[in-house]
Amino acid sequence: MSHVIEVRPAIPADALGLCQLTEEVAAEGAFIVPDRLFFSEAQQAAVLTHRDPAYHQIWVGCDGPRVVCELEVVRGVWRKTQHTATLAVVVAKSHRGTGLFSRCLEAAQGWARDQQVEKLCLTVFATNTGARTAYQRRGFVEEGVRRGQYRLDSALVDEVLMAQWLTPSGRGVDGSQHGP
Ligand SMILES: CC(C)(COP(=O)(O)OP(=O)(O)OC[C@H]1O[C@@H](n2cnc3c(N)ncnc32)[C@H](O)[C@@H]1OP(=O)(O)O)[C@@H](O)C(=O)NCCC(=O)NCCS
Repeated sequence: MSHVIEVRPAIPADALGLCQLTEEVAAEGAFIVPDRLFFSEAQQAAVLTHRDPAYHQIWVGCDGPRVVCELEVVRGVWRKTQHTATLAVVVAKSHRGTGLFSRCLEAAQGWARDQQVEKLCLTVFATNTGARTAYQRRGFVEEGVRRGQYRLDSALVDEVLMAQWLTPSGRGVDGSQHGP
């Protein structure tokens, strides 16, 4: 790929491209929980229009008009959870391994720090070794496992919980050591 893929915050006009990307990756069957489209284009556009940007952000990677990467972060809304945000990412098969996740993550980390989010969380199928490696390479550590949380075809698959602390040295703002 010789041309540059643009990475930027999503806008309502990206709704169709986001739906198409989700459908594409869902059809692969092995990587994400959805097995079909949950939001219509109109619903996705409404989410993008009405979301509170202090709590919910989406970044896209665009190859011309095609959305080839999505990284979504949703921050906890309660006092007890506001220091955390949960991340989900998909990259089109054609564009994996080209740094799109890394570029979107950098944007998400900047946004999270601006919102005083201390901890980024995600979950991944235990069988998704590629994604687990990518997350580890970018500073996520495994925190726990929910056994048999998913059924892929006929096999039960564990859910791996991963996180990274954004504070220097992986400490909570109160100085307590919760991170790596
Ligand atoms: C997992 C995924 C998000 C990674 O995104 P990406 O844009 O391909 O990742 P990047 O190119 O930014 O790579 C980041 C790092 O991870 C490594 N990496 C990426 N994919 C990898 C793989 N399949 N196996 C091993 N390492 C991998 C890269 O080498 C890089 O590390 P390095 O710079 O130290 O060499 C992407 O492959 C994807 O969307 N896969 C299918 C859907 C999916 O699994 N989503 C996650 C569901 S939890």
